[in-house]
Amino acid sequence: MKLLVINGPNLNFLGIREKSVYGNEDYGYLKSIIQEKAVNENITVDIFQSNTEGNIIDRLQEAYYDGTQGIIINPGAFTHYSYAIRDALASLSIPIIEIHISNVHKREEFRHTSVTAPVCTGQIVGLGLKGYLLAMDALKSMIN
Ligand code: DQA
Repeated sequence: MKLLVINGPNLNFLGIREKSVYGNEDYGYLKSIIQEKAVNENITVDIFQSNTEGNIIDRLQEAYYDGTQGIIINPGAFTHYSYAIRDALASLSIPIIEIHISNVHKREEFRHTSVTAPVCTGQIVGLGLKGYLLAMDALKSMIN
């Protein structure tokens, strides 16, 4: 099984940014727990991060060609306004899980809207970094 994890803007700053919201663990730690689970469960995973909207769209388009079977995406703040990322997600017919580390519904009003979620298969919100691992389990059950 081949999965793609995409993290949008500022997620490379985990462990630095707003620790009371996103926790103390850094981006390297997030990558390591995803990789560890992938190795244990015989999953091939590519973990991609970009602060740039166009690079995220380019990587999603690549997924159309490279045999990716499922996507986990945390679009960061792009969640709330990027119709371009929404359109790129809508182009794909594989399962896609949107993830947010924090419970966006408890936060500022502008975070309550996701323009990307309606074109995803499902969403995991507010469960911390563990949400990425739960999303891997969810994709496993959908793909196999
Ligand atoms: C986030 C929530 C977004 O509102 C925010 O802009 C982020 C991170 C989350 O994982 O909780 O960058 O997607």
